[in-house]
Amino acid sequence: MAGSGTFAEIIDGDVFNYYSNGQWNKSSSGKFVPIINPTSNKIHFKVQACTQEEVNKAIESAKTAQKLWAKTPLWKRAELLHKAAAILKEHKAPIAECLVKEIAKPAKDAVTEVVRSGDLVSYCAEEGVRVLGEGKFLVSDSFPGNERTKYCLTSKIPLGVVLAIPPFNYPVNLAVSKIAPALISGNSIVLKPPTQGAVAALHMVHCFHLAGFPKGLISCVTGKGSEIGDFLTMHPDVNCISFTGGDTGIAISKKSAMIPLQMELGGKDACIVLEDADLDLVAANIVKGGFSYSGQRCTAVKVALVMKSVADTLVKKINDKVAKLTVGPPEDDCDITPVVTESSANFIEELVKDAKEKGATFCQEYKRKGNLIWPLLLDNVGANMRIAREEPFGPVLPVIRINSVEEGILHCNSSNFGLQGCVFTKDINKAMLVSDAMETGTVQINSAPARGPDHFPFQGLKDSGIGSQGITNSINMMTKVKTTIINLPTPSYTMG
Ligand code: G3P
Repeated sequence: MAGSGTFAEIIDGDVFNYYSNGQWNKSSSGKFVPIINPTSNKIHFKVQACTQEEVNKAIESAKTAQKLWAKTPLWKRAELLHKAAAILKEHKAPIAECLVKEIAKPAKDAVTEVVRSGDLVSYCAEEGVRVLGEGKFLVSDSFPGNERTKYCLTSKIPLGVVLAIPPFNYPVNLAVSKIAPALISGNSIVLKPPTQGAVAALHMVHCFHLAGFPKGLISCVTGKGSEIGDFLTMHPDVNCISFTGGDTGIAISKKSAMIPLQMELGGKDACIVLEDADLDLVAANIVKGGFSYSGQRCTAVKVALVMKSVADTLVKKINDKVAKLTVGPPEDDCDITPVVTESSANFIEELVKDAKEKGATFCQEYKRKGNLIWPLLLDNVGANMRIAREEPFGPVLPVIRINSVEEGILHCNSSNFGLQGCVFTKDINKAMLVSDAMETGTVQINSAPARGPDHFPFQGLKDSGIGSQGITNSINMMTKVKTTIINLPTPSYTMG
């Protein structure tokens, strides 16, 4: 049960406390933010509605704690991260239960998210010790008057306070993917979890608390975006923002000043299917890539661009698999579960209605009950339909039939997004040409898009983001290069 056993201290009455300065606190606002269970559409949890003053204090304590943490030996930082990873995995059941209730993640996927997060934290600890444990040594060369009189030593230093803002679809995994690299690099963390997913995130933070990190180093503030959102992102003592989410990221990037940003803001990942592709493999990947977690993944397949000559066969194969998807509550580990909010379901419905009006072929009947939307494949989608360009973040997948690979690439590249894409073909030469032409941060050959493994680089072009994630890239992004230069009075050697 969430908030019971080891986690009892994180709840006060029926409202979950926020975490600041090493303590679990009740907000002075006397207000709470309700968390609606997507399946029942009723309030399931409540979290504190923090005030700006409380956010200020959390940042202040993060700033103070970071100074000492930056001087803490790397192996000690790594040891604490390993400990947190182990505690996180030990508590996978209650944390997964929160994910099921808050974001309707299917039960098994919820456990996988927690386990994957523990692995990520451990990997990050190991990687950090290596990446941060070495610097460079450079010797001056042809700079006028300085031939071999300067010796440069580089090291990586932390940025300070890192603000982590993960999205609802991975409130644990996309939180630790920011927290772990920040901590191993000597930074402190202020976490603002998504509203739905906040309780899972608080439980995860509690695992870090149990691991024994210094007081103030990690804070988790909950509350309304309208009250504390801008206050956090524009705070002068925040030195770096790592954000995953939607359009809000663009607004944050315009408001924040002179600090490094790491952002992933969604995608319209295209799947290009060539005539020689293994269609069974394609169908399996499109169904998994398009419909897992009901399509609520930035990297979900969001449009299939299929060569006309193989489209009939492929659509049939996909439909056979769609028919086998189970639909229902996350507790039953169904493939398709309710989408996160009623307004998300309404938005998906808008796109479906638009496609209907403009003549798409419905491979299944459109069906919705509350936030639960049955999986739907839309064939013969045209470029004039909203579903061809917009991101439904739901279990609805458009198929566009194409006459040439160039047409597919053109459609993919006309998107404002550029997260990932994929191409299916048995010809590696063609695959490489398509990969080269697709304007996306990653192209998968013969597999659906995906962020993991978590140490692979992960980045989007265009409106899909700024910077690159993945464990090593995040460590590099959350540090600055510092150089020390030793100057010799005279050249260290003379020629002839
Ligand atoms: O932000 C990325 C997330 O939405 C997708 O991650 O692991 O499902 O590919 P993943």
